[in-house]
Amino acid sequence: MHNRLIVVSNRVPLPSADGVSLGGLVSALLPSLEAMGSTMWFGWSGQTASAPASVLWSTPHRVSARGVEYVTVDLTEREVHGYYEEYGNRVLWPLLHGLVQHMAPEAAASYEVYRAVNQRFARALRPLLRPDDLVWVHDYHLIPLGAELRQLGWHGRTGYFQHTPIPSVEAWSQLPQGVVLADLFSAYDLIGVQTDRDRVNLGDILISEDTAARVAAYPISIDAEHFREFTKASAGSAVPVEWPDAEMVYFGVERLDYTKGIPQRLEAFERALISAPEMQEGARFVQWAAPSRTGVPEYQAEREAIEAAAERLNARFDDPPLEIDFEAYPAEAVAPALEQADVCVVSSVADGMNLVAKEFAAVHSADHPGVLVMSDMCGAAEELTDALIYPADDVDAMSAAMREAYFMPLAERRRRAASLREVVDRHTSRDWLHEFVSDLREVLPRTRVAATYVGPHHGTPDRRGVTPAPRTARAR
Ligand code: G6P
Repeated sequence: MHNRLIVVSNRVPLPSADGVSLGGLVSALLPSLEAMGSTMWFGWSGQTASAPASVLWSTPHRVSARGVEYVTVDLTEREVHGYYEEYGNRVLWPLLHGLVQHMAPEAAASYEVYRAVNQRFARALRPLLRPDDLVWVHDYHLIPLGAELRQLGWHGRTGYFQHTPIPSVEAWSQLPQGVVLADLFSAYDLIGVQTDRDRVNLGDILISEDTAARVAAYPISIDAEHFREFTKASAGSAVPVEWPDAEMVYFGVERLDYTKGIPQRLEAFERALISAPEMQEGARFVQWAAPSRTGVPEYQAEREAIEAAAERLNARFDDPPLEIDFEAYPAEAVAPALEQADVCVVSSVADGMNLVAKEFAAVHSADHPGVLVMSDMCGAAEELTDALIYPADDVDAMSAAMREAYFMPLAERRRRAASLREVVDRHTSRDWLHEFVSDLREVLPRTRVAATYVGPHHGTPDRRGVTPAPRTARAR
């Protein structure tokens, strides 16, 4: 049986868009979906419009390209603010990363808008669904969507994938709507998370044991072969900025986000240069930080923190060791830069997967070895065990790992690079997609609707003492 796959996410990579800095979700899904054919991708167009919300949602845009039909809706400015900027990015995003100090308590009031947009998404999508379709909902913007579809009489298979990490139950309890949101997961037949740690955490958070048993880890990946193509075409000439002429170039590239630990990374590099004076001569750092969610105050503050750390680092030495660039570059530029870099630093304080770590691994090998320095809170740390992994909250340990990379003997660099590449070649984004979709097709459908909690549209403080659910689902 061949079911049509319906992917639903907040961000949709419209074929007309320039394709830069869309994050891991899009970069992992798109090549595999195009290869599958017969799929629909539904979500927000990324545009705001001034017509009444009811009109915007009843007239979705439809465009097809390379086997994927894209169906998108515009949002009003009020919806974008409440659903995306406030509740999505100032409440759920920091919460899910366990960074409760970054949560904006006043933004929790936008929960109503978050729920209303999810309801409208469901109303716009429901008439497009055929009974045999498999619906696959992605990420925290859309946790309530499954329950909203069930309310509209949708009984088909519906899965959910969480791209961010899942925090501890203690962090989750800081969310005023924690109980309601946890209950909304019970509309899904299968729930995928990135790592085993996330699976355990979500099992602790979920209220229903049956729902907890439907959680499994499906670590997202990249299409390594496809990514390497971006280096071949340009042979290094497409790196858009001047690349330092140094013995070892350290490189960081990501969206500008406080989850990525960029100021800490610059501080660690400074400490490494001070503790190992040879590095002052031979090591340089290139950092690309793509502006992201620029309307959100915490992101503006993070940019200032990064700029201050960069200035401090460069002022400290006669020969400024850092080149920093606040641009969003496409894969055609990122891939050759990753290939040219000698060390890639992925210093997330917490992160879902960090596909950039896998991209770096894909373009290095025993013949062209690069060293990966990575925090233990990156999702990729569970698989890429031959990286230099340090505890995320320890700047000195990061600095020591940077030093170790500089002095690492060639034979060890070769061994580690070969092992990292083997991991990313062995399990690709296509495998990830097929594993999730085939499990969704086969999983026992859940008893629905009546058991699914969908209201009220505001939460009550989390006061429950939940018995941890059995963890029967498979870990990958
Ligand atoms: C992360 C999230 C994705 C999101 C992406 C880009 O990878 O998990 O859901 O699409 O960041 O963020 P943005 O806010 O620009 O969509």
